[in-house]
Amino acid sequence: MHPMKKTGTQNIRQTFLEFFQKKQHTLISSSSLIPANDPSLLFTNAGMNQFKAFFLGTEKSPYPCAVTAQRCVRAGGKHNDLENVGYTARHHTFFEMLGNFSFGIYFKQQAIQWAWELLTSKVWFAIPPERLWITVYHSDTESYTIWNQGIGVPQERIVRIGDNLGSPYASDNFWQMGDTGPCGPCSEIFYDHGSSMAGGPPGSVDADGDRFVEIWNIVFMQFSRLKDGTLQPLPTPCVDTGMGLERIAAVLQGVCSNYDTDLFAALIDAIAAKTQTTDTTQPAVRIIADHLRAAAFLIADGIEPSHEGRGYVLRRIIRRAIRYGQKLSTEPFLYQLVEPLIVIMGEAAQNVAEQKTVIIQQLHTEEQQFTQTLQHCSELLVNQLATLQGNQLSGEAAFKLYDTYGLPLDLTIEICREHNVSVDIDGFEQAMNAQRDRAKQASQFNMGSNLDIQVDSPSEFQGYGCLQLCATVTALWYQGQAVNSISAGEEAIVFLQKTPFYAASGGQVGDQGELIGPHQSLFTVKDTHRYHEAIGHHGYLFQGKLLVGDTLEARVDEKKRQATALNHSATHLLHAALRQQFGEQVRQKGSLVNDRLLRFDFSYPHALSLEQQQQIEQKVNYFIRQNQPIQTTVMPLLQAKSLGALAFFEDKYGEQVRVLTMGDFSTELCGGTHATRTGDIGLFHIITESGIASGVRRIEAVTSELALQQWQQHQQQLIQIGCLVKESNNQKLVTKIQVLLQSQQQLKKQLQQLQENLALQCVNNLINNAIILKDASVIIDFIKDGEVNLLKFMVNELKQRLGSAIILLATVVKGRAHFIAGITHNLTSRITAPDLLNYMTQQLGGKGGGRAELAQAATDNVGRAHNALASVTDWLNTKL
Ligand code: SER
Repeated sequence: MHPMKKTGTQNIRQTFLEFFQKKQHTLISSSSLIPANDPSLLFTNAGMNQFKAFFLGTEKSPYPCAVTAQRCVRAGGKHNDLENVGYTARHHTFFEMLGNFSFGIYFKQQAIQWAWELLTSKVWFAIPPERLWITVYHSDTESYTIWNQGIGVPQERIVRIGDNLGSPYASDNFWQMGDTGPCGPCSEIFYDHGSSMAGGPPGSVDADGDRFVEIWNIVFMQFSRLKDGTLQPLPTPCVDTGMGLERIAAVLQGVCSNYDTDLFAALIDAIAAKTQTTDTTQPAVRIIADHLRAAAFLIADGIEPSHEGRGYVLRRIIRRAIRYGQKLSTEPFLYQLVEPLIVIMGEAAQNVAEQKTVIIQQLHTEEQQFTQTLQHCSELLVNQLATLQGNQLSGEAAFKLYDTYGLPLDLTIEICREHNVSVDIDGFEQAMNAQRDRAKQASQFNMGSNLDIQVDSPSEFQGYGCLQLCATVTALWYQGQAVNSISAGEEAIVFLQKTPFYAASGGQVGDQGELIGPHQSLFTVKDTHRYHEAIGHHGYLFQGKLLVGDTLEARVDEKKRQATALNHSATHLLHAALRQQFGEQVRQKGSLVNDRLLRFDFSYPHALSLEQQQQIEQKVNYFIRQNQPIQTTVMPLLQAKSLGALAFFEDKYGEQVRVLTMGDFSTELCGGTHATRTGDIGLFHIITESGIASGVRRIEAVTSELALQQWQQHQQQLIQIGCLVKESNNQKLVTKIQVLLQSQQQLKKQLQQLQENLALQCVNNLINNAIILKDASVIIDFIKDGEVNLLKFMVNELKQRLGSAIILLATVVKGRAHFIAGITHNLTSRITAPDLLNYMTQQLGGKGGGRAELAQAATDNVGRAHNALASVTDWLNTKL
């Protein structure tokens, strides 16, 4: 019995963090499940993600080493455990990873020694050493020797693992974050759960069983993998370790499965109680427990179920849970488990608790919708099977059900099986792969080429207070390469040691302006971007020459900056107004701020009525009129959070943050540039409100001068409309237009009536001229100035009046000849309307279609239409 044996998961997390804090590691809070500024990653999948730039050396870490308990999701992208969940004792989509990180301070010796101390020391986890196995990368003799000679692990429990995944550096013991980024050899620590569990030691053929479980991975970060696959050494070797909290909890609580640990056991009990299930070891229960955690934490971090990207993966997780849920209960119940989850996970679920209402609402909606989908799909499939030729459903059909309605393949197979029909699974896979390829091509998760730009000298941003300063050129980039000089006519990126130019961030676009140098050089800045610590001015050297080391005068375009700042401040006010109006469920989903407009995307389930939009406008304008000072304060992140500052989930925040307040109505974390007082904004006006995805609305608005211009334009348009309808009083305009529209409707009706009367007269004439062929009256005629609908009306009228008739009317509209053919029912066994029109189009070209009794066709061959009409009577003689 070791001292931690009875310890709960909450304590284990705490103990880990304390151990490394005692070893001088800085405690850093978990980052969001949405990786900050990293398009190469779908979800945060490891503790090291938030430190990527420190490993690569593109940013300097403010602390030498760190310790975290990081929430992670592995359900898509490089590390994906989704399909394993429920069927092994140790895989999860959502889990917490405990990790210690060294940014160049310590390496193999120290990392291994501390890991061993924490795991085996009697005062810490006290795991019997003989239960632990070690793996090292096959060529990493240094680690092998540390484990064997330094720590004393016997040779028979140290396994060297080579490139067992099929190519160089593709190994269980060579860890990499994604297709690109930091990577290196690793050493893993395994725990032997004993012979009651199936499975062999690492490296053996049955290593995949649950007996030997990897509990801790120590990665020696030494390289950066580039897009072309090459490994570039990192500036300093670093350490990244990761221990799955759920796995170590199983070890310390003396259970063989993560699902038997305290937190999972309590959640599983809650599931069993809700669904009155007694068999709590079945995969369905475990899958629901796991997926509920993933779904709740993903929604808490701002992801919403949708049909693409992260939202799609979230939806798949929820749907998988719902499908297994149906095995336990026919009523939706997932959403009722959010409260128990919050209670069970305590402090670790603080963000889930904060977003409780939203999570419950979204889960409930998904459950209701997907349950209906399942029913609908089952009906569709059963109908399809009723008319199926043969006894196999095509892979394409199965894929359509999956892709369009989300009906999982195994359910399709199950339903088909009940009808003695098989499913072409290979065909399904093919259709799926084809779609995957399409998705890959369209994927947004690609590194932009500009991310390759690396500049060593940092740039100091001085643009909050000033828009003009002198600075030295630290680097020049031309056509993707660092150069020493650029010449007139070249497009390039200029880096300065300090700059007043704001680099695009947090939705605000980069500044524009000019760089004026010696030798009469003039560089026009079109955009500004940040490359880690350096700020790049993108533009065009209009005249002269620029050299690294030159001193330039940097001038921001003041007018554009000022207009952008007003729009940015108005965005904060809009955010505040929306939350005041609709409550906390409003969350920022994206924003764009430039000198012309502001665009704000936010979560809200319904379109905003005009009245609601106007209420929002009124609120924002009220805030503006309060003319409160706009103030910024730099403070620790925790303090900002305790002030209730709103943060945008996709931004990455350091430990010190900039908090922007406007009176008592808005407090947000923001690095952008702003007005001085709210009154500067002058006027705020919404120009559009629309939906951009399920549950996400977009507002576009203008401020200040442009808002005034918009208002004046509207005035102008009203006056013009007044002139057109001859009503100078704006108040009476609507009534006037209503009257005009009513009279237009009346005139339309009258016109139609007149046309029909004329048509009826025409019908009388046609009847008088009808010829009789056998038992049918035949009318074939050309109607001058006809109209397709009028012709149809006439054909129907003629059919009714004549009883047994064949009618073919033609007319020319806008240079095309149109034919309408009508044949009464009693004759359609001998000749149909499409037969008659085919006879015409064979001679004239053109296309047609319709029913046996009424069809229509058209052709451009107007010249021969009369001759063709004339030939119909003879042809009919042969048919009747
Ligand atoms: N990054 C490594 C892993 O995820 C160690 O933290 O396994």
